[in-house]
Amino acid sequence: MLRKVVWTVMALLAFVVAIYAAAALALPGFRPPFVGDLIDRTPLPAFGHLLGGLVAIAAGALQVNSRIRNRFLNFHRWLGRTYVIAVLVGGLSAFALAFRSSGGMAAHFGFGLLAICWLTSTIVAYFCIRRGDEDSHRDWMLRSYGLTLAAVTLRIYLPISQAAGLEFEPAYQTISWLCWVPNLVVVEWLLVRRHGRAAAIA
Ligand code: HEM
Repeated sequence: MLRKVVWTVMALLAFVVAIYAAAALALPGFRPPFVGDLIDRTPLPAFGHLLGGLVAIAAGALQVNSRIRNRFLNFHRWLGRTYVIAVLVGGLSAFALAFRSSGGMAAHFGFGLLAICWLTSTIVAYFCIRRGDEDSHRDWMLRSYGLTLAAVTLRIYLPISQAAGLEFEPAYQTISWLCWVPNLVVVEWLLVRRHGRAAAIA
């Protein structure tokens, strides 16, 4: 029950971030100055990142729902391919943006490593399903989506750090790691629990 509530809240927040990114892409007047500046300085990676990121975060929110997955397998396959392409576009451009991000070296490495892990987990998940290994595919896709949700956790921690009066630069450096490492820990914990339960049933 608690897991369902947490996933529903995360999915809703994922759609909010997707809508924000879509508005930033489509409506120049809506863009916060920081995003306008990002697009002016690095138009190609910025557009690629916003587009890939918004498609990945919205598609992934539907993919993790087991009811949709089981009832509409073709839709799941089609959306899965869309997710993989979106992560490739969003992740490669995120890697390019990482080394121009605010927050200096610590943030460059935080975002850079996140982009590498995002791309790697998604590619591994794709190859697992190509060779018919459904269990590993599901595990790697969960890791991948846990990383996609860094876009949500970052936008939770950042306003909290500002409301707490923390200085922007060190807070941003910390958040460039905090937005994804704990997500991975939570996913690993969920996977260990699931595998433990499966082993107990077998
Ligand atoms: C998971 C891997 C991701 C990485 C490594 C990453 C990295 C980055 C970086 C480095 C920036 C520029 C920040 C700066 O200049 O200080 C950025 C901005 C942005 N990213 Fe991502 N990102 C990721 C996922 C996503 C996803 C899934 C979305 C969903 C739409 C997203 C939406 C955005 C938006 C809207 C911005 C513009 C800045 C803002 O409004 O906060 N990102 N990202």
